[in-house]
Amino acid sequence: MKLWGGRFTKEENQLAHNFNESLSFDQRLYRQDIEGSIAHVTMLAKQGIVTNEDQEAIVKGLSGILADVEAGNLEFSPEYEDIHSFVEANLIERIGEAGKRLHTGRSRNDQVALDMKLYCRDEIAELDHLLKALLSRLLEIMEKNLDTYMPGFTHLQKAQPVTLAHHMGAYFEMFSRDRKRLKSIGERMDTCPLGSGALAGTTYPLDRAYSASLLGFAGPSLNSMDSVADRDYVIELLSALSIISMHLSRFSEEIILWNSNEYQFVELDDGYSTGSSIMPQKKNPDIAELVRGKTGRVYGALMGLLTTMKGLPLAYNKDMQEDKELTFDAIDTVKSSLVLFTGMVSSMTFRREVMEASAKKGFTNATDAADYLVSRGVPFRDAHGIVGQLVLCCLEKGIGLDELPLEEYRRISPVFDQDIYEAVSMKTCVEKRLTIGAPGQEAMRQAIEVYKKRLEEE
Ligand code: ARG
Repeated sequence: MKLWGGRFTKEENQLAHNFNESLSFDQRLYRQDIEGSIAHVTMLAKQGIVTNEDQEAIVKGLSGILADVEAGNLEFSPEYEDIHSFVEANLIERIGEAGKRLHTGRSRNDQVALDMKLYCRDEIAELDHLLKALLSRLLEIMEKNLDTYMPGFTHLQKAQPVTLAHHMGAYFEMFSRDRKRLKSIGERMDTCPLGSGALAGTTYPLDRAYSASLLGFAGPSLNSMDSVADRDYVIELLSALSIISMHLSRFSEEIILWNSNEYQFVELDDGYSTGSSIMPQKKNPDIAELVRGKTGRVYGALMGLLTTMKGLPLAYNKDMQEDKELTFDAIDTVKSSLVLFTGMVSSMTFRREVMEASAKKGFTNATDAADYLVSRGVPFRDAHGIVGQLVLCCLEKGIGLDELPLEEYRRISPVFDQDIYEAVSMKTCVEKRLTIGAPGQEAMRQAIEVYKKRLEEE
């Protein structure tokens, strides 16, 4: 059954129908669509626009549709154009005349805007939940690894020693910002488009504030044209999803490096690795690679929708139907990436000895040797030069700064004394970094306290 046959004399071309339809993908909005319709008809009855008997019959019919879809007893048959037509036609089939009154004072334009908002709102809650689970796992790793030394890198060259807790803390910050971003998107989209009609509101005495409150919105949207033409919240969500993907991708890249033969900082659990069909020795980090790879399609969704929206005149245009597949795919992709990634990170083993040994190689303590001289009155620029010469000398001998004999130190600068060895030890290098945000244990503990509270409260 079509909702708009009246002014047509010919059947729709089948290919046109197939091209136009969205039921094959917007069927996943069935719950939001029914929830919105129940709120709408409840408001219509309160305003005396439909009778209480009709309202009861409609709510009963809609609840029946919901139950049947969830039980798998009602198929989304392809003759319908979209989820809105499907639900309404089904309702009319079930309850007859009363069902035809549901669409009073409403258009599919405000209906689809509402459905997408409700859907995005639900998914934001889900995503937040998954991010929180990942943050909890990261915090556990941090608490256990306050003194697991590892090299910190800049330009992918060993730079200064840090700890695993500190490194994980950087990702903790990123995913915490992602949660905040989602939350603020939720706040900005908290207005209800229902009752905006096709674009110009309606002449029925709707109580839009009432239906907004039934659906848990802060209030009704204030411009009916914008309400049906706005997809900013979808674009914002896709942008937040892109940033989450970027974070997951950077983290995946590090895990792939750390799991390589060259680094051996971590060992992935067998459950999250795959083998090679030809090389028996291989244990590949496919999950991390896929999480990294899937970032492309999430960015693609953002670019796709931005492009779809860029030239659209007000108000609703069918182009906007293109928001759905992109958004659904991006949400599904990020959700599964988060689940898999969290499982992978929770189950992998960190090889502390390898990390620490690596931190000792590569002169990650060179800055500390310079700081040692500075604390004894040598200007930093001179200290930098002196330590540079020491590094050269060590490179020739194939040893580290902590292994260089004191005479050699003194040959280059008489300021050096026996206590240089303590100053360049891994422990001192890390533990003395105590400014807030630095890897020293006390500083890390303070940060962890804040993180813990945040996770408990939000
Ligand atoms: N399937 C449509 C969409 O996703 C629903 C709105 C249809 N409105 C219309 N005037 N044809 O955008």
